[in-house]
Amino acid sequence: MWPDRRLLDLFKTEFPIVLAPMAGVMDAELVIAAAQGGALGSLPCALLSPEKAREQVNIIRQRVSAPVNLNFFCHKAVDADPKRETTWRQRLTPYYEELGLDPAAPINVANRAPFDAAFCEVVEVLKPEIVSFHFGLPDPSLLKRVKAAGCIVMSSATIVKEAIWLEENGADVIIAQGAEAGGHRGMFLTENIAEQPGTFALVPQVVDAVKVPVIAAGGIMDGRGIAAAFALGAAGVQLGTAYLRCPESKVIAPARLALAQAHDDSTVITNVMTGRPARGVANRVMREVGPISPDAPAFPNAASGLAPLRAAAEKLGRVDFTNLWAGQAVRMGREMPAAELTRALAGAALARFAQMAD
Ligand SMILES: Cc1cc2nc3c(=O)[nH]c(=O)nc-3n(C[C@H](O)[C@H](O)[C@H](O)COP(=O)(O)O)c2cc1C
Repeated sequence: MWPDRRLLDLFKTEFPIVLAPMAGVMDAELVIAAAQGGALGSLPCALLSPEKAREQVNIIRQRVSAPVNLNFFCHKAVDADPKRETTWRQRLTPYYEELGLDPAAPINVANRAPFDAAFCEVVEVLKPEIVSFHFGLPDPSLLKRVKAAGCIVMSSATIVKEAIWLEENGADVIIAQGAEAGGHRGMFLTENIAEQPGTFALVPQVVDAVKVPVIAAGGIMDGRGIAAAFALGAAGVQLGTAYLRCPESKVIAPARLALAQAHDDSTVITNVMTGRPARGVANRVMREVGPISPDAPAFPNAASGLAPLRAAAEKLGRVDFTNLWAGQAVRMGREMPAAELTRALAGAALARFAQMAD
């Protein structure tokens, strides 16, 4: 028996386990597999056009009747900063030369668009059961439309202040994202990375501060982690890194290898890959330019200068410039189909609860 049934009742999934949305490394295929295993599948839309998001949801709906979570970034778009862009290009020039690329060639701008009216229309048409946001919440007028479409709204908090803000501003569920978590820090009321609490410290403090159900995220990889999250007061868990090595993910082969070979001390928080702090396995550019660099242009523009390098290096089978987003417990990842993994995770958690009750 799950010690807390609030999310099961709310989501109507078999398990209170959420497959984290992971932009860039997954699509409908992983969502479908995790949903078939009993989890809530999340489709990351940050790198998709509204048309593509619609197409992906249609694929999911054709294959499973489970609820679905559509995930969006809602950062504030910043104006271009030509001076910083130039400094960044200069910093990356030796890599361009090494790979035989022209550092002066024009680059397509990074395409991580924040949630806007076009995406909101997609939500209104498709009416996903759940919509989750990263980096706060969208403009109140857009959020009102999402809620009017009947969607349950979730968003990530990295400190208690953010959790309280999210609850006050309309979030129905809060994802407490500890510092262990892979991918971008969802931080939006603070910029201080050093102050970010870990999952074990954050979850009970968020649970005490808000009334809405709390989902724990960051470093959870097996039944022990899931049981610990519930013991801390969470009503569910969101796992990203645990699903990265599933055959249904879109992680490219050399990145899979890097994940498989990673240890507990292989990840760092960096801003050089996109301009926003995110945790991943350290690659060459993170080590040599970062992991934190004041030269990195604001999110998402740092990624633009890296894009040609990434493409050229990947052609050579190298991940020197590839985002290897992963959490601190990446070492515990398993290569297993996502439905099977979900059932194994749930089974192991339930066994732990039973053991703890003895
Ligand atoms: C590869 C990767 C990509 C991610 N992309 C997103 C994203 O697009 N949207 C989002 O809300 N969270 C994203 N996250 C963060 C997850 O939602 C979640 O907080 C994190 O995976 C939990 O920690 P764990 O990786 O240790 O399980 C990403 C995480 C990873 C590992």
